[in-house]
Amino acid sequence: MVTIAPSLLAADFARLSEEIEDVRRGGADWLHFDVMDGLFVPNISMGIPVLASIRKTTEMFLDVHLMIEKPSRFVKQFCDSGADLVNVHIEADSQAGILKALEMIHEKGKLCGITLKPATPWEEAEPYLNIADLILVMTVEPGFGGQHFMAEQLTKITALREAIERKGKDIRLEVDGGVDEKTAPLCLKAGADVLVAGSSVFRASDRAKMIRMLRGEM
Ligand code: DX5
Ligand code: ZN
Repeated sequence: MVTIAPSLLAADFARLSEEIEDVRRGGADWLHFDVMDGLFVPNISMGIPVLASIRKTTEMFLDVHLMIEKPSRFVKQFCDSGADLVNVHIEADSQAGILKALEMIHEKGKLCGITLKPATPWEEAEPYLNIADLILVMTVEPGFGGQHFMAEQLTKITALREAIERKGKDIRLEVDGGVDEKTAPLCLKAGADVLVAGSSVFRASDRAKMIRMLRGEM
């Protein structure tokens, strides 16, 4: 099953609840919520109070992508503010620090994901495969929407799908960055089953049609 997660980073922040309702009606499965701290990535986006407000307006599954240093400092607050799944970058702390963050997310009863930047080899995900519910592969440098898809990341997606199958565990494989109607089929063919899409969905003249195209339905 393919899951489509529009990234709110590309939505109109002044009209977030309408934007959310529009993509929900258009067939989106999850909402992707990007958090930046100005240190781990050279940009700042939105944070805990915004997530809490969104939680009050929708029952949609909230997929939170933390682009922040030492995420264990904040994961509990994101869980308490309505995240259903919290993704942490494995480059953002020591292995022990990342494992601690993942355990804290599970203790809150939420799903946990690990995220890999483009330069991070797939093998670095291995220490987390026993605990992670999802692996997020970045196909752009994190920090900004609207960038070009890095096709060389497709081999990483395939390698991770194979590693997941060897593990024999139900781990979702998500792709984030430059996903549109041309690159989505490549991601799905490589083994991804969750697609984040910011610009392609929110800038589309017909968002419902774009979501169907990303899913491979037309
Ligand atoms: C980038 C974010 C993405 C971003 C994707 O750092 O993690 O989720 O919103 O935007 P598009 O789909 O426009 O590449
Ligand atoms: Zn993201």
